Amino acid sequence: MTQKDSLAQAREEHFRLGEAIAAHDRAYYQEDAPKISDADYDALRRRYATLDAQFPQLADESSLSKKVGAAPAEKFAKITHAVPMLSLGNIFVDEELFEFVARVKRFLGMPPEAEIKFTAEPKIDGLSCSLRYENGLLVSAATRGDGFEGEDVTANARTIGDIPKKLIGSPPDIFEARGEVYMSLQDFAALNERQAAQGKPLFANPRNAAAGSLRQLDPAVTAKRPLKFFAYAWGEISRMPADTQLSMMQAFRSYGFIVNPLTILCDTAEQMLAHFRDIESRRASLGYDIDGVVYKVNSLALQQRLGFVSRAPRWATAHKFPAEKATSVVRDIEINVGRTGALTPVARLDPVTVGGVVVSNATLHNEDEIARKDVRVGDTVIVQRAGDVIPQILGVVLEKRPASAKPYKMPETCPVCGSAALREIDPRTGQADVVRRCTGTLVCAAQAVERLRHFCSRNAFDIEGLGDRQIAFFYEKGLIKTAADIFTLQQRDRTSLTKIENFEGFGKVSTQKLFAAIEARREIALNRFIFALGIRHIGETNAIRLARSFETFESLRETAHHATPGSEARQRINDIDGVGDVVAEAVADFFLEEHNEKALDALLAQVRIVPMEAVKSDSPVAGKTVVFTGALLKMTREEAKAMAERLGAKVAGSISKKTDLLIAGADAGSKLAKARELGVETIDEDAWLALIGGGGA
Ligand code: IVH
Repeated sequence: MTQKDSLAQAREEHFRLGEAIAAHDRAYYQEDAPKISDADYDALRRRYATLDAQFPQLADESSLSKKVGAAPAEKFAKITHAVPMLSLGNIFVDEELFEFVARVKRFLGMPPEAEIKFTAEPKIDGLSCSLRYENGLLVSAATRGDGFEGEDVTANARTIGDIPKKLIGSPPDIFEARGEVYMSLQDFAALNERQAAQGKPLFANPRNAAAGSLRQLDPAVTAKRPLKFFAYAWGEISRMPADTQLSMMQAFRSYGFIVNPLTILCDTAEQMLAHFRDIESRRASLGYDIDGVVYKVNSLALQQRLGFVSRAPRWATAHKFPAEKATSVVRDIEINVGRTGALTPVARLDPVTVGGVVVSNATLHNEDEIARKDVRVGDTVIVQRAGDVIPQILGVVLEKRPASAKPYKMPETCPVCGSAALREIDPRTGQADVVRRCTGTLVCAAQAVERLRHFCSRNAFDIEGLGDRQIAFFYEKGLIKTAADIFTLQQRDRTSLTKIENFEGFGKVSTQKLFAAIEARREIALNRFIFALGIRHIGETNAIRLARSFETFESLRETAHHATPGSEARQRINDIDGVGDVVAEAVADFFLEEHNEKALDALLAQVRIVPMEAVKSDSPVAGKTVVFTGALLKMTREEAKAMAERLGAKVAGSISKKTDLLIAGADAGSKLAKARELGVETIDEDAWLALIGGGGA
């Protein structure tokens, strides 16, 4: 091979690698959705750097090699949503649609034969955006962000033709329109052609292209990207122009928005399903990507009563199209160790495109799953990807199994720290847990790194610039071993001989940015703090429940210290609505473990926790502990509880000295007696409704 040939080859490979790395950087830093493991990413980078070293002429041609360890995307200003932007629950199969409709009726206390109207409309595969109008003029536009706070993309939104800068008709003074920014398939193809012609990286799919285009720091770039907008929801509104979902959409149209023309009204679940099938059959010819159908209760009064659970409305759901499938070959089965020590087998696959995204890993869940599907290294497997979830292996193509393929055997020691990895036996059932866990909680680097990642993640401490890769890096260097270490990093760096800014990929500016980001998080909301601790079974929702119930961290900690089995303190945690034995036990276990206590003390010396505010401090029941008992006639028990919580009350399951109010429906029994005994104020359903002002929303 001549010198020239190998340069040409290297150039080709260098270009391909550059494209891949740029795409992964975008997925990682801008979409927060990495598509490959850190190790795979590092391998790409290493190969790229090797080529740079061998062929300096390539290094000069590329800008990538100059930004090793790519800095996080520059920042947009933040906008706090006046009304949080929620997500949607998902359903996948027909039965779930019937269950959804039944659940709505049950929540509202309606008989199964009652009729409730729903709208059905396509679920657009783009990114959601909230547009705020004051006196008819567009004043701001924000991405969804974490639902509470998004990025300010006002200047960019102004360049989108479908987004009115000035409303027509007679809109309310304050009007927040929400909907999806998307790119048509035709425009997407043309954009990628232009990118290719200019030697720029290609976008993986229209959604990424739309996201990348809207989240541009330079609005002039956005202006050149053909983005579109469908309106389908709203945030703050000073005056409701209509009382149903469908008539709201008509009002939106009268103000100048584009509403999806495939939106219809359905009387029954059968009609909803028929519309789903209809939209599915037209999917390929719509000219833009959709990934399902969204159903919404049509009456806004009922929407109000149904409210939300966690971060999704009870009155709407997304019916997703079946996931896309492809086949690939399992090259290896590797073990991931998570923050709780769980060993998760992951199949490394030959890269394959599934629904527009390159997949090279698929989770195998646990050893029972592997055994059930009998997945072996060397097997050809069917891979499925649905929405944003981790790709799954559906099954093995047995005809293609190589003769040498052997059944997989799960390791019995942790691949990271070498400690024994065991399946706990559940004392109640005598059965082994499906998950094998590493027992080296305190010595296992994987657990420590995963715990730190969780601690810094978006819904926990949300420390910008301290992403997965950086945490692993600092851990390896011995600079961050515990959560408290994060907050002493700057101070230690000052007196250290090896400065962080001199590490490859850092530099002065990004180091200062990192320190500033850490400083900005010394104050943290109680629910985020609790979530960040990574206590088993404490996800965001349970963290909020604990925060609401205890209000201060000291109070939670104090109670948890006494929460031995059967104690009053344990019962106090158990009584929080939505919390049960398993969660109460996990909380107690966490605080009763001495190592955790030490780590907590160190952390508390560094941060300030902002106590939980009552949800609606002006409501007469805010901060009060209430209990419902007996049969309610005007609403279901679930609805009553949700309403009380929305007004800032804590709903408990049993009466204690701490109960402020008992709402006793018909045929109330032992709880009523106990309330009388303890002198707890008791009212009936009508008095409750009068107290909270009828609707409660
Ligand atoms: S309604 C409170 N309608 O899907 C409910 N969402 O998976 C607000 N989406 O965050 C959402 N098309 O970005 C609604 N026709 C549609 C939609 C839609 C796409 C997106 C939206 C939302 C996500 C939830």
